[in-house]
Amino acid sequence: MPLVTTTEMFKKAYEGGYAVGAFNVNNMEIVQGITEAASELNAPVILQVSAGARKYAKHVYLVKLVEAAIADCPDIPIALHLDHGADFEICKSCIDGGFTSVMIDGSSRPFEENIAETRKVVEYAHDHGVVVEAELGKLAGIEDAVNVSEADAQFTNPAEVEEFVTRTGVDSLAIAIGTSHGAYKFKPGQKPQLRFDILEEVGRRLPQFPIVLHGASSVPQDLVKVINHFGGQMPDAIGIPEEMLRKASTMAVCKINIDSDVRVAMTAAIRKHMAENPSHFDPRQYLTPARTAVKEMVAHKIKDVLGCAGKA
Ligand code: G3H
Ligand code: 13P
Ligand code: ZN
Repeated sequence: MPLVTTTEMFKKAYEGGYAVGAFNVNNMEIVQGITEAASELNAPVILQVSAGARKYAKHVYLVKLVEAAIADCPDIPIALHLDHGADFEICKSCIDGGFTSVMIDGSSRPFEENIAETRKVVEYAHDHGVVVEAELGKLAGIEDAVNVSEADAQFTNPAEVEEFVTRTGVDSLAIAIGTSHGAYKFKPGQKPQLRFDILEEVGRRLPQFPIVLHGASSVPQDLVKVINHFGGQMPDAIGIPEEMLRKASTMAVCKINIDSDVRVAMTAAIRKHMAENPSHFDPRQYLTPARTAVKEMVAHKIKDVLGCAGKA
């Protein structure tokens, strides 16, 4: 089937009490690992592209890779989404360039400015059959080289969400409830916590409206150990416990963003392979286990965290 928007995916996810995985893509092995896992498990999937990914791989290569994945996995719905679009221009460029979904991230702007920029993107996107995700509240961590310190991070105010959604006409909304970007989400000894009360209140105020969770990697400790054992340095890397993500999936959260876990899986596989095979210099030799690691990670998320296996 051709690329789809997320409208149908989110409707089914909300009703079914599960979430769809949105995985960041930067190269062929990542696209293949994700879509092969989704296809084998008959799951819907969102492939998302950041500004950094477009800079690294070029827009056209990423779109062509996703087109190839559609041809290779014709039976599952796949959406192509812009992750953290900073302004109208990048959103327009992706809408014009074949994406079916864009995020306008106005979370660092004042409320009225966030509304105005989001509204502008929504008008253009909807005229072109594309859906829009926006963000209200600030996550800590690193988004495209913008480092939001913990002190600057702010939970979403549920009282603002209705006004924001009504005035912008946006299709889904990312909220801040304690997740953060990257592999260092909590300090050692700190108890991971998410503000489920905020999520519940948002769900009550906006029934049936799809909520998005960014910064949702769990940073599996077995893989961090592999990385550190084979020469890496990721001390104190800590993510969101998977049971919390499972719980969020049964609530209003319909899209869960995962990037760091795919990076960790690939890096662990490549470090191990290189350490155990010092004579190898053909990239296919170490990118094959890396691609398998992506596939295994995504399959695990689909089956054990998101609950979207068999929902294509
Ligand atoms: O939210 C950020 C995503 O993990 C994308 O990261 O900007 O390094 O591609 P990136
Ligand atoms: P992680 O860094 O937790 O994987 O979050 C990714 C993300 O939110 C992409 O938008
Ligand atoms: Zn994000």
